Amino acid sequence: MSKKLKVGLFGFGVVGQGLYDVLHKTKGINAEVVKICVKHREKPRPIDKEYFTFDKNDILNNDSLDVVVELTDNADEAFEIVATALRKGKAVVSANKKMIAEHLEELYKIQQQTGSPLLYEASVCGSIPIIRNLEEYYDNDLLNSLDGICNGTTNYILTKTSEENKTYEDALKEAQVKGFAESNPRLDVQAFDPKYKLTILLCHTFGVFVKPEDVFNFGIQNLSAADSTFTREKGLKIKLIAHTSKLGDKIVGYVIPTLISPDNMFYAVRNEFNAVQLGAAFSDKQFFYGKGAGGHPTASAVLSDISALVYRYRYEYKKVEQNGTLPFSNEHLIDVYVRYPDESFLKELNVTDIQQRFSSSETQYVIGKVSIDSLLRANLNERNDVFIAQWN
Ligand code: HSE
Repeated sequence: MSKKLKVGLFGFGVVGQGLYDVLHKTKGINAEVVKICVKHREKPRPIDKEYFTFDKNDILNNDSLDVVVELTDNADEAFEIVATALRKGKAVVSANKKMIAEHLEELYKIQQQTGSPLLYEASVCGSIPIIRNLEEYYDNDLLNSLDGICNGTTNYILTKTSEENKTYEDALKEAQVKGFAESNPRLDVQAFDPKYKLTILLCHTFGVFVKPEDVFNFGIQNLSAADSTFTREKGLKIKLIAHTSKLGDKIVGYVIPTLISPDNMFYAVRNEFNAVQLGAAFSDKQFFYGKGAGGHPTASAVLSDISALVYRYRYEYKKVEQNGTLPFSNEHLIDVYVRYPDESFLKELNVTDIQQRFSSSETQYVIGKVSIDSLLRANLNERNDVFIAQWN
């Protein structure tokens, strides 16, 4: 039997406590949490205070600890912790999508230089083992596309508002109480969180390193009664979809609310569930489904990473070697529904091929084509008078 892994944990929030719980309920994993580094001294905690430290060096400089598990909220501090731990020869598991997305290329290089592994299955789609599948099963160049509902909070809000007539505010509050939302929920509703996840998936699907700021994201914060009526009347649902595909010799990727018809698998993905659909040359479409947020589902992915470290698993970043030269591009036209405030906005966005136009005292919209590049430049998350959804 392999030796028991000693874990130093950073952060004891929803996922940290979930991990502690799950680890103590699982017999199969030969690992124990030895030290937990937290920020706030006064906060009451459900386990013995002997576990806790307030000094990161108590973990980073402790040679008896094999694995650092980073489950904090602050991306900059998390990067320092993770980079230091890897350089000190420790294996690291993290769920911090923002930190990983912002530093992925650097973290890849640190792993190459140090030989220390960094695993982060929990950072994308909670309990769904998508990164490891992309790395191991799709170990070839046959993938064409990936679409995902990668944010539990927004899917929860979209479900509760469309199916139970709850208000957006109440649904968001519920998602916060249930521990799905980020501490700054703007990251969820404006689609930054799924954009970070897509940035990570871009590397493991197509081998490209992209800066999050170059990836277009627009969320559901401006969804109005008029947009919901339009969607319902067409027999559709709105889902926040992260998309990437290989188009000729370029890779495109973006996150946008999308109008989904009942024959699409995403139509049935409700509440905090996430899903990923892969398109491949020979296997055609495959669909992964599972809980994308919450303490225990996310902790299950952290646990699986810890367990993988026991048998010395590491990401090989095979797609980076295979496809590393394909450029990421925002020069790509998509079909969209645009609810707009005035004609000048349509011009600014350069909406073309307009097939439908509607205007009433309550709303005005067009259906047409727009490029991801002009969407990115329009800073849509800064506006509250516009709603755009992809029309598949
Ligand atoms: N806020 C995230 C979500 C948590 O709602 O999906 C899981 O990454």
